[in-house]
Amino acid sequence: MSGQRPRVALVGATGHGLWHRRRIAPLHEAGRLRLVALVDVRPVEPAPDAPVPDGVEVFTDHREMLRAARPDVVVVCTPPHTHLPIALDVLAAGADLLLEKPPVLSVAEHRTLSAAVAETGRACQVGFQALGSAALAELLAAVRDGRLGTVTGIATVASWQRDDAYYGRAPWAGRRSADGRPVLDGALVNPLAHAVMQCLAVAAAAGGGAPVAIELERYRTRPIEVDDTASLRVTLDEGPVVVAAVTLAGEEFIPGEVIVHGTRGRAVLEYPTDRLMLPGEPGLREVPGRVSLLENLLDHRADPARVPLIAPLSRTGGFTAVAGAVHAAPEPLLLGGDLVAATGEGPARVTTIRGINGALRRAAEELALLSELPVGWAARPYRVALPVADRPVADRTGTWTRRMRCDGK
Ligand SMILES: NC(=O)c1ccc[n+]([C@@H]2O[C@H](COP(=O)([O-])OP(=O)(O)OC[C@H]3O[C@@H](n4cnc5c(N)ncnc54)[C@H](O)[C@@H]3O)[C@@H](O)[C@H]2O)c1
Repeated sequence: MSGQRPRVALVGATGHGLWHRRRIAPLHEAGRLRLVALVDVRPVEPAPDAPVPDGVEVFTDHREMLRAARPDVVVVCTPPHTHLPIALDVLAAGADLLLEKPPVLSVAEHRTLSAAVAETGRACQVGFQALGSAALAELLAAVRDGRLGTVTGIATVASWQRDDAYYGRAPWAGRRSADGRPVLDGALVNPLAHAVMQCLAVAAAAGGGAPVAIELERYRTRPIEVDDTASLRVTLDEGPVVVAAVTLAGEEFIPGEVIVHGTRGRAVLEYPTDRLMLPGEPGLREVPGRVSLLENLLDHRADPARVPLIAPLSRTGGFTAVAGAVHAAPEPLLLGGDLVAATGEGPARVTTIRGINGALRRAAEELALLSELPVGWAARPYRVALPVADRPVADRTGTWTRRMRCDGK
């Protein structure tokens, strides 16, 4: 019986990898899978809530692990700039993949990985776990059923704080690139990636087409290479616009709202807490339940026709188009002086942009960029039009594929 359990390996076993180990441990105990290997270039310590079961081999090189442990499924939770080469090796070894977000960092990398998925016939699930939320599913159903009328815009607003310790957590923290490859550890592509992805999923349900233009303003309050505050608008070739107004230098905490503007009403999803408000409802209510991406991948392997992946690579093409624009954009504007307050000492120091919450809220309500509002410090937006061949397209299930060119290639 144990021979039939899918053999699972985890690459990147400390850091966020511990979160995966905590979820793999009970599935291993229950006989749902068999954890066969952990891989990390750093020492892997046992954790009380994520024990390393007997017989699990620990490797420092994922290729050696693939040869020796022959896993059926590999979870990849390494820094973003390492994702593509490791993912390609996993697929070439014949294993299915759960790849952490951001899956890849350019449209070209997305295309390379999509081609490998198609050629090998393996599954690639991306670690956008909020896509498995029951609250999102209810919102998507309401949008598809026309309960909001025609959806005219989707916006996300989030106001977080990150301290100096956060930017010292890893060599790639706050960096635009690492080891010569994009890493993009900014607000939009890393901590608030889920906010952007949720909006794009709603846009697809509302009949949104391919992204045709991306407008972007990026700001920073510290000597980092990426944004800690950003204003983004994605125009699709049909359907609603998508706006993101986010900061890691916020005043009051806003966990992350996805606001859907429709001709018959407005919906709000607070995605980190899975609380939802549909038109006519008095406030946010909890919609508990998330389908685990790993369990969904195991179910999909067992019965692909009946169980679609929740977060297939193909669904993340729009997100990666945003990441590509972030990489191509000029360096973020450094804010300072009276505009930015610093509080706390040493690693606990945080920064706050005065008036930021009001500005972000207004951007989300008006589907505007900060530079289109009376925000004196706003930068000129970086604007990029996506060439037709680079545009991913989405169907109403939210599955993104690359647009076929007229010549069929
Ligand atoms: N889904 C989420 O909500 C969520 C949350 C946090 C992080 N993440 C993602 O998880 C990934 C890892 O983030 P992190 O914060 O744990 O990073 P990290 O740098 O703290 O940890 C990554 C781990 O990978 C190891 N590693 C690096 N290169 C390796 C290689 N070539 N082979 C094997 N191991 C290697 C490192 O030693 C480290 O233990 C990132 O893509 C990040 O965006 C996702």
